[in-house]
Amino acid sequence: MPTTVPTPQPVPPLLQIEDLHVEFDTPDGTVEAVAGVGFSVGAQETVAVVGESGSGKTVTALAVLQLLDGGRISRGRVLWDGTDLTGLDRRALRRIRGNEIAMIFQDPMTSLDPLYTVGHQIVEGLRLHRRIDKRAARGRASSCWSRSHARPAPQARRYPHQLSGGQRQRVMIAIALACSPRLLIADEPTTALDVTIEAQILELLRELQAEYRSAMLLVTHDMGVVAETADRVVVFYAGQVVEQGPTAEVLRDPQHPYTAALLAAVPSGETDRAEPLAAIPGVVPPLRAMPSGCRFHTRCARAWDDCARDEPPLLPLPGGRSARCLLHRSGTALQAAAVKGA
Ligand SMILES: Nc1ncnc2c1ncn2[C@@H]1O[C@H](COP(=O)(O)OP(=O)(O)OP(=O)(O)O)[C@@H](O)[C@H]1O
Ligand SMILES: [Mg+2]
Repeated sequence: MPTTVPTPQPVPPLLQIEDLHVEFDTPDGTVEAVAGVGFSVGAQETVAVVGESGSGKTVTALAVLQLLDGGRISRGRVLWDGTDLTGLDRRALRRIRGNEIAMIFQDPMTSLDPLYTVGHQIVEGLRLHRRIDKRAARGRASSCWSRSHARPAPQARRYPHQLSGGQRQRVMIAIALACSPRLLIADEPTTALDVTIEAQILELLRELQAEYRSAMLLVTHDMGVVAETADRVVVFYAGQVVEQGPTAEVLRDPQHPYTAALLAAVPSGETDRAEPLAAIPGVVPPLRAMPSGCRFHTRCARAWDDCARDEPPLLPLPGGRSARCLLHRSGTALQAAAVKGA
């Protein structure tokens, strides 16, 4: 009898965002802050989201957990392990938040309650999500606490305002990881810290992520952090994904002129100090006045007539990459190479 070799089934991603649109009602009308974003995060994978200020990184992260303040998902799906989170009721969402997906914000002060000691907040967070008694929660909190290198006493008895920014972020990391989430969303977790503390916090995040086998969605401005931390990178521009792919390849050989320009604006060890860094001309267009065609064409050194007219889709490229640029419409190697020189 012939033996049939079973075809390996593709592993579904842990988080899959599909065609996500987010709107806000403002006094001047409705604006669309996220306009068709899609990307995925696999189990234990680290995915970095980069892009200029206002490109929709935080709104996307908040939309995953349905934490949009005054905004709504107008279209698209957020699949968590195959279940669409956009259709879940509050109770089901609460079970997932903190327990399966945890989030760390740029400013820990906004997420810590000023009225309670930080030790109390870790214990209560655990009791809420894990439904364990106080004693068990205290034991687990203490182990997370020491793993996050926040000195247990007297720090645990302090209130958030009595700790430094770095210590507060360690507390947030301890709270976030106390329930061993399968995904950690970290939105600019080190932007408010100085560089030495930043390096320590990133190291801690990486260490704990490996220990707890969590996936991480890391929002950052810093290409150095991307290079050191992420398996894959997703580049945002004006509420859309313009490029995504494995980190090393995207950084070495960007396929979208915006990614190339972002990278050219980053100082590197090889940069000639006498030569100024290339700034991207202009600013991200306001939500109410998005240009027609490609949203980046008004700032793009490689734009031609078609770019003002045709809105490029996110085009698949070899090696699990994709880019939203007309240069790839017919996908020739020559055109792809041309992007690098943008
Ligand atoms: N509550 C809100 N009401 C109206 N517009 C909003 C609201 N929250 C965000 N926006 C708009 O959505 C867009 C995307 O904002 P978002 O905070 O996601 O940017 P970002 O990429 O995280 O930027 P940064 O790097 O500065 O954190 C911006 O134009 C912002 O003004
Ligand atoms: Mg943000």
